[in-house]
Amino acid sequence: MKQINNKDLSSQFLIRPDITFLNFGSFGACPKPIFEDLQKWQLELEAEPVQFMTNDGFKYLQQSREALSQYIKCHADDIVYTPNPSYAMSIIIKSLPLKSGDEVLTTDLEYGAMDKALNFYSKQSGVKYVRQAIQLPLTTKEAFIADFFKGLTPHTKAIFISQITSSTALILPVKEICEMAKEKGLLTIVDGAHVPGHIPLNLSELQADIYTGACHKWMMTPKGCSFLYVKKEHQHWVDPLIISWGYDSAMPSHSQFLDYHQLQGTRDFTAFLTVPKALEFMNANNWNMQAAHCRRLVQYNALRFCDLLELNRYAL
Ligand SMILES: Cc1ncc(COP(=O)(O)O)c(C=O)c1O
Repeated sequence: MKQINNKDLSSQFLIRPDITFLNFGSFGACPKPIFEDLQKWQLELEAEPVQFMTNDGFKYLQQSREALSQYIKCHADDIVYTPNPSYAMSIIIKSLPLKSGDEVLTTDLEYGAMDKALNFYSKQSGVKYVRQAIQLPLTTKEAFIADFFKGLTPHTKAIFISQITSSTALILPVKEICEMAKEKGLLTIVDGAHVPGHIPLNLSELQADIYTGACHKWMMTPKGCSFLYVKKEHQHWVDPLIISWGYDSAMPSHSQFLDYHQLQGTRDFTAFLTVPKALEFMNANNWNMQAAHCRRLVQYNALRFCDLLELNRYAL
């Protein structure tokens, strides 16, 4: 297999040299230039806390949202930063405009924390959370789509689906699923935790009404940096999870969505500000090529891992 020399690149990470770090999917490793950027923002905060927390910080947040929105192809006012995708989904779940007897259709491949959140909501609201069984191993897109929509009933009002599944790392045909769901008049909610920096994301093409992604996995920002995207037409029903000055604001901005979800009392949002640096790092290091190389490495070594861990090779 063709090798590329990644010595220079690995020296830019903070991972202990005796560790071979494979689990970027849970928590990505943060390279030194991006971590130093975090510290730069924290130092600026501590040097003038009031100026930063009430003024400059919001200007920087906007710059960061603009950089991210160009990368994931949406309007900067349609995304807010959250510490993690669970937080983003809790905002949505607690606001969903559904009533007892309505149904949310999902798969049995979803991330455990999201399942818990939807189960919690379901118990409280009487909305049924339908975890449609998916036949594994996946064979074709068509078979997956057919399996998924078997769970559709006249009561289905929304779908919730991962774009890349957590432990099984399957890329699900979310584009086709969202298109079909929109034709049926359903609300489309996508958990894209693993997508940013991993596979291309174009929110202006994907018909997702709601989308969440993590930047601290494959985009390598410091931990606690994720986002929630809500299509403009749905922003009016999305309540703030934390009620603070942005609610019923004395000085409302042009966007209630930003006021509700960005203004949350005292909190350290410096991790959110590192996104432009992370994008710069990815560009400077030809990240598409690096990612393609990593994918080849995974494919090349997959069977060896199965043998090493005594797993079933045929499950691949
Ligand atoms: C599919 C999926 N959704 C969401 C998340 C994010 O989880 P958390 O909010 O616990 O960081 C993960 C994390 O690995 C995930 O795999």
